[in-house]
Amino acid sequence: MTNPVTFERRGRIGLLRIDNPPVNALSPEVVAGVVQGFAAFEADGSLDALLVHCDGRTFVAGGDIATFDAPDFSTVPINTFLARIEQSRRPVVAVLHGTVLGAGLELAMACHYRVAVPGTRVGQPEVKLGLTPGSLGTQRLPRLAGVPLALDLILSGRMLAIDRALEAGIVDAVRDGAPLDVGLAYAQSLLDARSAPRRTSELKVASEGATDDVFANELADAARKPAYPALGAIVRCVRAAARLPFAEGEQIEAREFEQLRVSPTSRAMRHLFFAERQASKIPGLARDAALRKVESVGVVGAGTMGGGIAMNFVNAGIPVVVVEASDEALQRGLSLVRKNYEASSAKGKLTAEQVAKRMGLLKGSLDYAALAGCDLVIEAVFENMELKRQICARLGQVCKPDAIIATNTSTLDVDVLAEATGRPADVVGMHFFSPANVMRLLEVVRGAKTSPQVLATVMKLAGTIGKVAVVSGVCYGFIGNRMAEVYMREAEFLLMEGAQPQQIDRAVEALGMAMGPCRMLDMAGIDVGAKTVIERGKAGGLPPDPSYRVVVRKLFELGRYGQKTGAGYYRYDGRTPLPDPEVTRICEALAKQDGVARRADISEQEIVERLLYPLINEGTKILEEGIAYRPGDVDIVWVAGYGFPDHRGGPLFMADQIGLKTIAERLAHYAAKRGDRFGYWAASNLLTNLVRQDKPLSDWTPD
Ligand SMILES: NC(=O)c1ccc[n+]([C@@H]2O[C@H](COP(=O)([O-])OP(=O)(O)OC[C@H]3O[C@@H](n4cnc5c(N)ncnc54)[C@H](O)[C@@H]3O)[C@@H](O)[C@H]2O)c1
Repeated sequence: MTNPVTFERRGRIGLLRIDNPPVNALSPEVVAGVVQGFAAFEADGSLDALLVHCDGRTFVAGGDIATFDAPDFSTVPINTFLARIEQSRRPVVAVLHGTVLGAGLELAMACHYRVAVPGTRVGQPEVKLGLTPGSLGTQRLPRLAGVPLALDLILSGRMLAIDRALEAGIVDAVRDGAPLDVGLAYAQSLLDARSAPRRTSELKVASEGATDDVFANELADAARKPAYPALGAIVRCVRAAARLPFAEGEQIEAREFEQLRVSPTSRAMRHLFFAERQASKIPGLARDAALRKVESVGVVGAGTMGGGIAMNFVNAGIPVVVVEASDEALQRGLSLVRKNYEASSAKGKLTAEQVAKRMGLLKGSLDYAALAGCDLVIEAVFENMELKRQICARLGQVCKPDAIIATNTSTLDVDVLAEATGRPADVVGMHFFSPANVMRLLEVVRGAKTSPQVLATVMKLAGTIGKVAVVSGVCYGFIGNRMAEVYMREAEFLLMEGAQPQQIDRAVEALGMAMGPCRMLDMAGIDVGAKTVIERGKAGGLPPDPSYRVVVRKLFELGRYGQKTGAGYYRYDGRTPLPDPEVTRICEALAKQDGVARRADISEQEIVERLLYPLINEGTKILEEGIAYRPGDVDIVWVAGYGFPDHRGGPLFMADQIGLKTIAERLAHYAAKRGDRFGYWAASNLLTNLVRQDKPLSDWTPD
């Protein structure tokens, strides 16, 4: 392996050059290289200053997170070398470009001067991994930027634009040009001015916004989110920076960081970080496989999903044409998109020009011929097989030869739709989540004949429109809705057995789920949920159990569509859900009709186990059938698409924490307790085998 750090002389300036693509992460090799290069600088008395520069697209964009899992990981080696740099008696300058994040910003702040090129952004995103900064970001940033901005940046993990960073004193200058030229010129100007080293650790933290009340309030806020212990830790570290000598602050940060590093929360969040990167990789497909170009998009259907889908592409500067069945539906769809943008504009998130530009990229048509020039066409018409089949056949004819044809179906067989086009290799599922312009998840459904190139193109495109994409094979509901079906099934059985909607929702919300199943379906629409169940029944896909999903069908029959009609599982006062005795009566009657015994002893533990363990079991079936490539993919689907708490790492990561043996035992317990006529409670082969081998899911790979 070539050394990722080189040291060279440029006149009287020493140049330390880091080249560790893709983002110049501060790996142990880079740290060793920087230490060595710095020693060469120290040994060369003919040099007057040192410039730290990174090749490639960014300055150091973070630490090497993979090393955090090592049992002997320690922040000491990095902190020690940062101290050595800072102690240099000759000026050390960092030239910044790209995204200067985490350990990158910490390295830059240990240098005496920072110059950046326009477009650079800085930040301390460690909180997103459930951590505090570990290399003195909590100590140096308040010294440069003051307590309010340091707290804001470190608690939110957001990136700061370079002009703001300049105003705040995080960087000293912004100069246009190639980063290396900018850095060398700036270092020279410091030498010309005989500027001395200026050590961040020796600065005093400004007293403004650093009162006891400020810290007390921040700690109180953090205490309201006990699932995220990093928040309180960050406040304590920044308070130490403001109140204590640097060396004491350093110890406090090291202690807090170490506690968090080994905590289940940070492990879960790091798991998701890696799972997200892994999800974009398609086994067997080279990273550099040739992709199709996608420079124009067509959307069929301007309903709830079609409009949101179109916005994603327009937001990324890609023109979209939307085709509808009637002018009325088209105008309704387009004006809803406009309203959405105008609402963002009213909140100051978009300028009037941006709204005009985006609407300018959006065209409507009633003629399928308008789709002939599109590189990608996504159908988002009603969830009806016959209709979708007809549309797909038409798209097969209208779309140009190398266009990609995608379907947004939630449950229908993508292979059937692919065949209907007459060109199945061009077809892929693009399952967006509602609201499609907001939700981050995109399930990319790989049909039996989808070409690898089409799959890879859509995965890349997902990144362009800011989505996290997960590949799913074809099955009822794909990864997410197939598991959600099991979850909803159990919620309904619990209701029939005597649990209340609020009791069920409270139990899973206490785990950290954004919303319990009853509130979730009330919001998504009982009609939407019930129609899917009814359609599935018509297609012969429902289990032969008379009590299966009868509650949602009954509520639908009664016109209780959820929030939009003021009643569903709850009744609504505005958007506030209120317990409704009518629902209890409905469930009692259904239980009686289907011979389900009512009981009063349903505990919170039973609710959690009965909602979660069959869902986990279904996830393992999805893995053994090859529907999902990896456990992490299933976790991403649930965190990015269904409000599963990130601090628990997703359902399959959580399964390993609970222990697969416990889960298998509890499934068997409920099978015995409730009876298992339909195999609902049977553990998958994968789960059974892993328990037998005493292995966690994280060790599993497909044969
Ligand atoms: N709503 C959700 O939460 C959600 C989430 C994910 C996926 N989906 C899927 O997205 C698809 C659309 O769902 P939706 O909620 O947007 O439905 P919707 O009823 O809001 O919109 C469907 C639109 O398709 C139009 N349409 C019907 N026939 C057409 C034709 N021949 N040509 C052009 N347009 C036609 C209709 O006029 C309507 O505007 C479905 O397959 C659904 O399963 C929905």
